[in-house]
Amino acid sequence: MIPALKVDGLKISIRTDEGIARVLDDVSVTLESGRIVGVVGESGCGKSTLIRAIMGILPRGASVDGGKIWFEGENLLVFSEKELNQRVRASRIGFIPQDPLQALNPVFKIGTQLLEAMRWHAPGSRRDHIARLVMLLGRMQVPDPAGALERYPHQFSGGQRQRLLIAAALACAPGLVIADEPTTALDVTTQHQILLLLRELVAEFGISLLFVTHDFGVVAELCDDLCVIYAGQTVEAGTVQSILEAPSHPYTRALLACHPDRADSFVGIPGIVPSPLARPAGCLFAPRCGDVRPLCREATPAQGRARSGAAVRCVQYS
Ligand SMILES: Nc1ncnc2c1ncn2[C@@H]1O[C@H](COP(=O)(O)OP(=O)(O)OP(=O)(O)O)[C@@H](O)[C@H]1O
Ligand SMILES: [Mg+2]
Repeated sequence: MIPALKVDGLKISIRTDEGIARVLDDVSVTLESGRIVGVVGESGCGKSTLIRAIMGILPRGASVDGGKIWFEGENLLVFSEKELNQRVRASRIGFIPQDPLQALNPVFKIGTQLLEAMRWHAPGSRRDHIARLVMLLGRMQVPDPAGALERYPHQFSGGQRQRLLIAAALACAPGLVIADEPTTALDVTTQHQILLLLRELVAEFGISLLFVTHDFGVVAELCDDLCVIYAGQTVEAGTVQSILEAPSHPYTRALLACHPDRADSFVGIPGIVPSPLARPAGCLFAPRCGDVRPLCREATPAQGRARSGAAVRCVQYS
């Protein structure tokens, strides 16, 4: 079976006043059909840029310097804006944004906003659309689902708004859903409830999900596969089980060591993610790596395979 989504060697740069920012430099992610892949990395590693590239909403000044984004046998990067709107967004790829307040228009009722998208992108009549929305809001445990359509965004709590947006992303019955840290702003209990419901719906509807997060707790709870990105490069990719049991790349190991479940006290990774305007030579993680060797500063490591089965970009495995 072909993957639901395959990002292959994606390179993206953005022209800025300070110069060319190499934001993505060889990112590859494979999402097998019906599975959930987590994309993990620190702030600034390029997670949202990856999502924007898939959705065709890159910022001004951005250019694609290489790579492909395969979706149902077609390279999304060659689609025009019109084709993406008519044939891909909402109807075949649903999107769950990080900030529900920004995604919802404060002056329109929830029903008006969500039904408008369905009018263009979902099959069936308005009555079918209302029935599906009410069903989805109920499944996401939004109180009084039918009444919710008549209310305004400010009449919901943050957690409820995030539930609304998950229902909205599933409303047009897409086969692929992409989520950008949708539960980051929520308390742990609410986050846990929402992730359980999302996991249930995704399995029931046979959806493939790409879920961006910086939280390994979320990855362990939700995801089947994992792609770790650092400074715009995929550094480790494999199944969640294999990587959590035996993380191979020093960056993955360092990230995991910072997680509250594993750390004895608060420890961070020394240093910061390099700016896409000034990237070091050789391995991009070398300046922060506890296991650095002279070779690491010379050439970008090729991708190798660890004993866990994961693909790893580190001289120790190439
Ligand atoms: N429009 C832009 N112009 C210039 N640089 C940008 C632009 N958008 C993103 N960048 C830079 O690209 C890099 C990656 O940004 P991106 O938003 O993809 O990171 P992220 O992994 O989503 O981070 P976070 O976890 O904080 O959301 C950052 O260094 C950021 O400053
Ligand atoms: Mg982001």
